[in-house]
Amino acid sequence: MTNVLILGAAGQIARLAEQQFLAETDSKLTLYLRNAQRVADLKSDRVTVIDGDTTDVEKLTQAMQGQDVVYANLAGKNIKAQAETILKAMHTTGLKRLIWISTLGIYDEVPGKFGEWNNATLGSYLTTYYSAAEVLENSDLDYTIIRPAWLTDKDEIDYETTGRHDAFKGTEVSRKSIAALVVKLAENPSESIRESLGVNKPNTDGDKPAWY
Ligand SMILES: NC(=O)c1ccc[n+]([C@@H]2O[C@H](COP(=O)([O-])OP(=O)(O)OC[C@H]3O[C@@H](n4cnc5c(N)ncnc54)[C@H](OP(=O)(O)O)[C@@H]3O)[C@@H](O)[C@H]2O)c1
Repeated sequence: MTNVLILGAAGQIARLAEQQFLAETDSKLTLYLRNAQRVADLKSDRVTVIDGDTTDVEKLTQAMQGQDVVYANLAGKNIKAQAETILKAMHTTGLKRLIWISTLGIYDEVPGKFGEWNNATLGSYLTTYYSAAEVLENSDLDYTIIRPAWLTDKDEIDYETTGRHDAFKGTEVSRKSIAALVVKLAENPSESIRESLGVNKPNTDGDKPAWY
């Protein structure tokens, strides 16, 4: 049984991961989020809810007591500050394992015309997300950084991964696939340690995501 702390627990991928954790594992979940009433539907003896912001280092440190894995499903211009606060709280509690959702393109690893379009479309979001990933890569944590392709809400689990120094593949991936990868990593604590994984749906190469 794994104790999983989910930060940004009302996020779209996080909600799908929570459903999968509860249906497919015996993990206990601590849901940490702002406006916590948004997860009231997940009432269970395996679920604890904490209303908090990830820039609140004291509350975060408290929430980390007794956890095995931290899964951060966060966003925002202050994402680097959030990464620094999480790192500080993990150091205080002695926690090592972190699963972190980032984005494709942070290393300029997306090749060809799609890479050019991705860079132009995402702009400074990429450097902001890179600076957060860098905080983790320069740390002593057992992190896995996940870099999803453009996200869809398709009801499918269908993905492949690329490594930190590989060219990114494909253009899209479902949120449900990313949730499945998160659950697999949380349940297998020695998998993909200190790795940064590109994640895409196979055979979706193109100059843009199909819906653009
Ligand atoms: N859209 C794409 O195609 C794409 C592709 C690759 C990667 N991504 C990235 O993947 C990540 C996850 O995706 P998603 O669809 O699950 O995103 P999402 O629904 O926007 O979830 C992000 C969550 O972060 C929470 N958050 C932000 N700042 C916080 C703080 N200070 N304290 C606590 N919670 C905070 C937000 O909470 P509030 O609701 O309280 O603001 C939100 O629930 C995002 O960073 C997204 O940018 C997106």
